[in-house]
Amino acid sequence: MVGEALMWILFAALLAPAGFVGWAIGHYTGHTKNHTVTVSASARPTTTAAATTAAATTTAAAATGGSAVAAKAIFSGAGCAACHTFKPAGATGKIGPDLDTAPEKDAKKDKMALAAFIKQSIVDPNAYISPGFPKSVMPPNFGSTLGSAKVDELVNYIASDGK
Ligand code: HEC
Repeated sequence: MVGEALMWILFAALLAPAGFVGWAIGHYTGHTKNHTVTVSASARPTTTAAATTAAATTTAAAATGGSAVAAKAIFSGAGCAACHTFKPAGATGKIGPDLDTAPEKDAKKDKMALAAFIKQSIVDPNAYISPGFPKSVMPPNFGSTLGSAKVDELVNYIASDGK
């Protein structure tokens, strides 16, 4: 009787959407509580893995204010880490300036506010060349490939040292 019910729950877990499984387990709990613990523990990973992952990501983003997590993903996804060192993103590239320290100095030399300088450096890299670094190596098209919303997230991320 119990074995049969277990089989049924597992079968449902494999085929039915997570919501239905939740209902089925809840339903089952009402009758025989002890066995439900085992069933739900084995059934959940297969059926609700996606939902769990999404929830974890959301929680992490909320805990840090959201934008830093998103910006770090943009930074890595756009390939910035290949050329730049930037500690908050765990980046160790050496082709371009160290973004932990260089933008502040270069913004002063270029007589610009930090955020405006960083934005210019991303969308129009050749407008100012950081001393000792090559011209026309940083791709000039991030403004169009990322779009202004993602560029702005990167600007905030770098200007605030990863916060
Ligand atoms: C192929 C290598 C390469 C990639 C990829 C790259 N950069 Fe650069 N970046 C450079 C180089 C070289 C410079 C220095 C020359 C200059 O000032 O344009 C630079 C300059 C900068 C500067 C100005 C730093 C300063 O102090 O003057 C910022 C900010 C910057 N990059 C951000 C980014 C971001 C954000 C990304 C990803 C969206 C990125 N870079 C991708 C090579 C790269």
